[in-house]
Amino acid sequence: MPGTIGADNRTDTSSFEMPFPRHMHLDSAKANMTETSPPVIALEIEGPVALVGLNNPPVNAASQALRAGLVKAMDQLADNDAVEVIAIYGMGRTFIAGADIREFGKPPQAPSLPDVCNRIEAMQKPVLSVLHGNALGGGLEVALATHARVAIDGLTVGFPEVTLGILPGAGGTQRAPRLTGMKTALDLITTGKRIGAKEALTHGLVDKVVAGDPRDVALESAQAVLSGELPTRRTGTLTVDNDTAALKDAAETLRKKQPLLFSPHKCVEAVAASVKPLEEGLAEERRLFLECMESPQRAGLINAFFAERAVAKIPEAGARPRTVNAVGVIGGGTMGSGIATACLLSGLTVTLAEQNTEAAERGRTTIETNLDGAVKRGKLTSGQRAEILSNHLSTTTDYQDFAEADLVIEAVFEDMNVKRQVFRQLDDICKEGAVLATNTSYLDVNEIAAETRRPEDVVGLHFFSPAHVMKLLEVVVADKTAADVVATGFALGKRLKKIAVRAGVCDGFIGNRILSTYKKTAEYLMMDGASPQEIDTALTNYGFAMGPFMVADLAGLDIAWASRKRLAATRAPEERYIPIADRICEQGWFGRKAGRGYYVYGADGPSPNPEALAIIADERTKAGIAPRVFSEDDITSVIMTAIIMEAATVLEDGIALRPIDIDAVYLFGYGFPRFRGGPMHTADAIGAAELVRRIENYAKADSYFWKVPQSLAEMARDGSTFADRSKEA
Ligand code: CAA
Repeated sequence: MPGTIGADNRTDTSSFEMPFPRHMHLDSAKANMTETSPPVIALEIEGPVALVGLNNPPVNAASQALRAGLVKAMDQLADNDAVEVIAIYGMGRTFIAGADIREFGKPPQAPSLPDVCNRIEAMQKPVLSVLHGNALGGGLEVALATHARVAIDGLTVGFPEVTLGILPGAGGTQRAPRLTGMKTALDLITTGKRIGAKEALTHGLVDKVVAGDPRDVALESAQAVLSGELPTRRTGTLTVDNDTAALKDAAETLRKKQPLLFSPHKCVEAVAASVKPLEEGLAEERRLFLECMESPQRAGLINAFFAERAVAKIPEAGARPRTVNAVGVIGGGTMGSGIATACLLSGLTVTLAEQNTEAAERGRTTIETNLDGAVKRGKLTSGQRAEILSNHLSTTTDYQDFAEADLVIEAVFEDMNVKRQVFRQLDDICKEGAVLATNTSYLDVNEIAAETRRPEDVVGLHFFSPAHVMKLLEVVVADKTAADVVATGFALGKRLKKIAVRAGVCDGFIGNRILSTYKKTAEYLMMDGASPQEIDTALTNYGFAMGPFMVADLAGLDIAWASRKRLAATRAPEERYIPIADRICEQGWFGRKAGRGYYVYGADGPSPNPEALAIIADERTKAGIAPRVFSEDDITSVIMTAIIMEAATVLEDGIALRPIDIDAVYLFGYGFPRFRGGPMHTADAIGAAELVRRIENYAKADSYFWKVPQSLAEMARDGSTFADRSKEA
């Protein structure tokens, strides 16, 4: 019946006190209907239809103003006898993309999102929502509380809360299962995966998918409700079949796959409560939501969310990136082929250069294999793969073929003389305005740039292996790099769907400089008594994907050995040197590729290499070290303190713009556990005073390595945090 919701036919009899003008804005911050700016809610009355436009750019986040505006609109429309149906839609690029994440961790401000959703669902007049762009998290919850949902093509819906360390806390865990059943709701809520409009329709999350402008669709859909064509109902009145098998399955999978995470397990508990009457289920959801909000993982995951975005704020943001269509890549090894693959997957044309035809063909084969992987993962169709390989990739042995390239990325052997020679040639060959990039992971980009007559065009683009998979890209800015070249590096990162972070020139830039301190510390711990396996286990239990010795075996111990030999002459005599890795290498045990390193790689997977353990014991005896026992906490405390100590000096040296940039580098390039928010976020959680105390304590045994960075000392004195410094910068 028009103007009513489902079977519930009560009509709104509340008196009408204040007529609406045809189009007015609701300044909900003041919760008053005035025409002041910013107009968070725009109301229009078209005959019996009220259109509620949400206007909170850029993503219509459900801020306090938007929440208050929605409640106010519902209250006033309930009292307006002329209105028979209400349609909520998003103005701008999207429906509500979620709760306003910036409000998390601050004192809650009424009305809460659950109250908003409950108010909407309780409306006596039918309320429908028109969804376009994104309806995520709290946005989807608002939609589920309306009495009908119309999706516009291109819509994305999902519950990303779990990726932020929380759960859908505004009825999502109760209303979604009522529409989709428990199994689908569990899948969506515990993974945070995002789905399109058609899939949402299949699952019953939306009632209809149409094309059109959100306001037009809102008006048409409201008419459809009036004519009875679009049925309405309260989600909360539906019941849920108790799918105990799905609940058990989800709980077991999460216990196995995500034992360290807090909120996914709470999501399952919340969905389990959806068999209860709505009010009871909502109360259970609220209780679990608040537990998640209190968890340090929530703060870590939200820092990761903002880190991903903060890094784009660079001094060169105003510069116009140069046009890049044709890319040259020098070097067809794992790195060069990975970079070429990343470029090809983003629609760029690539010329790959190698020293000879065989090497070039090997590079092509690696790219083909990488693209096969993309096809398997559903990122590419086999038709697109064929098209890329025949029309967008060419190989060469002649740098002259780079004459028309817009960007050339060098990924040759990590040797300054080789790199210099490459850049001299590029300088002679490349067209004016081409960007010349080096993928060096340690070397001095200023020295490389000085080899050309156009140092302003030279920049470091440090990819991480496998380059077509890893998210991080360090954009290394040398002294003379032009602003538009930096901007080009960032634009390329965006095009390649990577997270670009601005870094200054030093040995190892942000990531590898800190990594070398991390590795050294792990070796010190090994010498002092912890086994490689104990150290690796402590770090994987802390949340890293792999421990440092397993990573070293994977990377190949010979590479680090060669670099140690190269640096031997310049090593400071006071620096503590651990000879264990050298002795392991002398046996030819170069790690996984040799079947043996710190671990032995057998058919049943890696196990500790007893002969490496004998070398460790022998070196301890030679050095007169009586091995100590380290707990997992001892190991992670020492390693995290060392990482933070080096990170603080990276900041003091101006190599990273802000602490949050270091978090981004470690989260997206080095497998740092996302729920811990990054090294600088971890530093704030530990506290500067405690870190200073630890460093001073460790310095008693090794005052060359352990030094309190000035910034930490200041923070310990004034109680400030790295987060404060990220905000100030
Ligand atoms: N709260 C606050 N700010 C947000 C936000 C949110 N939920 N979502 C995005 N923003 C901000 C971004 O930080 C960014 O700000 P700056 O321009 O100042 O950096 C701006 O909006 C634009 O965002 P993007 O650069 O990410 O824009 P995009 O077009 O690439 O992507 C998007 C848009 C898909 C909506 C993406 O922003 C996104 O995925 N946002 C997060 C969505 C989310 O997690 N929602 C759930 C929130 S939790 C919740 O809702 C819990 C609950 O039930 C109570």
